[in-house]
Amino acid sequence: MAIELTLNGEAISLEADPDMPLLWAIRDLAGLTGTKYGCGKALCGACNVHMDGQVVRSCVLPVSAAAGRQVTTIEGLTEDGDHPVQVAWRKLNVAQCGYCQSGQIMSAVALLERVPQPSDADIDAAMSGNICRCGTYTRIRKAIHEAAEDLS
Ligand code: FES
Ligand code: FES
Repeated sequence: MAIELTLNGEAISLEADPDMPLLWAIRDLAGLTGTKYGCGKALCGACNVHMDGQVVRSCVLPVSAAAGRQVTTIEGLTEDGDHPVQVAWRKLNVAQCGYCQSGQIMSAVALLERVPQPSDADIDAAMSGNICRCGTYTRIRKAIHEAAEDLS
């Protein structure tokens, strides 16, 4: 069936089984591969995207749930990859292997939209659903504070 949604600001129609995970639709049908597949069970956060401004796990959300909604992926944060969170990430060399980082950044952006000057506790709570096998958590926390300063 045709599923109409707005993806990174653009109205699109995807021909998909309504039960297809949104992650599959984003990667395989829309061709946006910045969002990653980690666990497929809503446990790691690698697949995080925003739907109507909220963080969702696209690996377990059926694409039909995105009908009529605004979905934003890492590619849609800015045209040039220069969102203050992305700038801070690069400045502090947050990424190691990088696999989890798209999901981390999507969670961080949502946090800063909700809490512009988060405490360490706010950051730990908001980011607790994002697993990093490389253990970049300390740099993630620093980069979120850096981006918060930049945004203030
Ligand atoms: S791939 Fe979706 S939470 Fe791990
Ligand atoms: S940077 Fe490697 S899993 Fe997070």
